[in-house]
Amino acid sequence: MKMFVNRKNELEELRALSQSKQPVMALLYGRRRVGKTYLLGRVWKDPFYFLAADTTLETNRTDLLRELEQWSGMEIFPEDYHTWRSVFRLMARIAGEKQQVFILDEFQYLLERDSDVVSQLTAVWDREMDDSPLVLVLCGSEVSTMEALQSRDSPLFGRLSWSSRLRPFDYFDSSRMLPWLPLREAMYIYGALGGMPRYLSAVKHNENLRESLCRILLSPRGEVHIQLQNLMAGEKGIRNTAEYDAVLRAVAAGRRELSEIASCAGLQDRTYVARRVLEVMENLALIRRERNYGASSKSPWRYRIADNALLFWHRFIEPNRSQLERDMVGSVWETSIEPLLDTYMGHIFEDIARQTLLRFSGELGLPVLSTCNRWEGLDRNRRSIELDIVARLKSGEMLTGEVKWSSSPVDPDVHFQLLRNLEDLTASGQNWAKQALGGWFVYFSAAGFSEYMLRLAEDTTRVILVSLEDMFPD
Ligand SMILES: Nc1ncnc2c1ncn2[C@@H]1O[C@H](COP(=O)(O)OP(=O)(O)OP(=O)(O)O)[C@@H](O)[C@H]1O
Ligand SMILES: [Mg+2]
Repeated sequence: MKMFVNRKNELEELRALSQSKQPVMALLYGRRRVGKTYLLGRVWKDPFYFLAADTTLETNRTDLLRELEQWSGMEIFPEDYHTWRSVFRLMARIAGEKQQVFILDEFQYLLERDSDVVSQLTAVWDREMDDSPLVLVLCGSEVSTMEALQSRDSPLFGRLSWSSRLRPFDYFDSSRMLPWLPLREAMYIYGALGGMPRYLSAVKHNENLRESLCRILLSPRGEVHIQLQNLMAGEKGIRNTAEYDAVLRAVAAGRRELSEIASCAGLQDRTYVARRVLEVMENLALIRRERNYGASSKSPWRYRIADNALLFWHRFIEPNRSQLERDMVGSVWETSIEPLLDTYMGHIFEDIARQTLLRFSGELGLPVLSTCNRWEGLDRNRRSIELDIVARLKSGEMLTGEVKWSSSPVDPDVHFQLLRNLEDLTASGQNWAKQALGGWFVYFSAAGFSEYMLRLAEDTTRVILVSLEDMFPD
């Protein structure tokens, strides 16, 4: 049987929908390749499934009717169903007494320009469904279009019984797609491919890290390479891809604040364009923004790339495109990627550690967190300070910590350095830092801890050590 990772809540909730005696409508959406169709394929036994195509409404309607005929075994003459209203009416009739599930996949293709599919659906839904026990699932990959269906202005507003945006996997579920790999290797893969199930499923059993990334991501013929290349072009609402690429490249290169990003992307006179581009990409979960812990609502946002595949692409693939096109995949790996990979992973691992804290605080022996940020800036002597983890627990206490991807065991220095930083920040007027000195401390290490560090944690209350293995509780 093929692997099926997580999506437990969605599975259960969707199954529960078919208990209803009334007609119910559900919405499932999310980026391409995130696993929508795969999930829907697991929920019901023999649903009607139609995959809309990027073609005219007429063609889609006749295709749908043909498939409906095959699936239901009824004789259906397309010329009897000229309108979408009559198609939905037909579905209700087929459902009749028996509970039936109808899935319309890539639904956004039925919503192009002057389509009135939604208002026709609403009309039938409100007046003619009676008590037909049917489940209608509208599924689509165009996030903004699908999201608009549940907004206040949409005719469907208030009619949806269930709606969910499917997200890529976190580090933990990603690793479950790669159960044969040592954890450290699986994390490199997550760093390069992110949590898109489709990308992860391209990694093969018998390959090591270098082999799989060279084959699927570096090679211009690689499956993930091709999909990433088309990522921007495939998102509707993104017209000028050049501007998007320039902004992404700036953020990937470490530009964080709007003005820096705009000028690095050549948009210094049009900051509003950069802002808009960032907003669109944030909506697609390609970009995220954050502020220092405790920062005021006036302090500027700092932008980051939210999708590891996209970050890796702009950091390592894009700059080496011409070499990769000439099939120099192996030498690009050796000279331009491998030597920089651990530095790259340092930042990814910080993010993974924050995911661990939010998902598994109980397993780690920690109270539940309410926020989890980082902090970077200058103390009053203009010394630059970075704290990987600054969090507030639900209990009100503070939690601070450091995250190390290094390959040698972490020793107590890291704790004393953090205490020093917190003391300096306290002296610089950061009130939370004072509180943090009396709070919890957490240290993540991908290469374990020294004898001394283990002893320190034993002797000091509220110091928690988390090894790579601890981040993967059973
Ligand atoms: N929960 C999962 N467990 C394991 N593998 C998964 C899971 N979800 C998705 N996959 C893998 O990812 C692939 C892509 O998923 P799927 O085709 O469902 O994406 P999609 O969201 O429908 O994309 P599109 O919008 O392009 O149609 C699947 O064929 C499968 O290999
Ligand atoms: Mg699909």
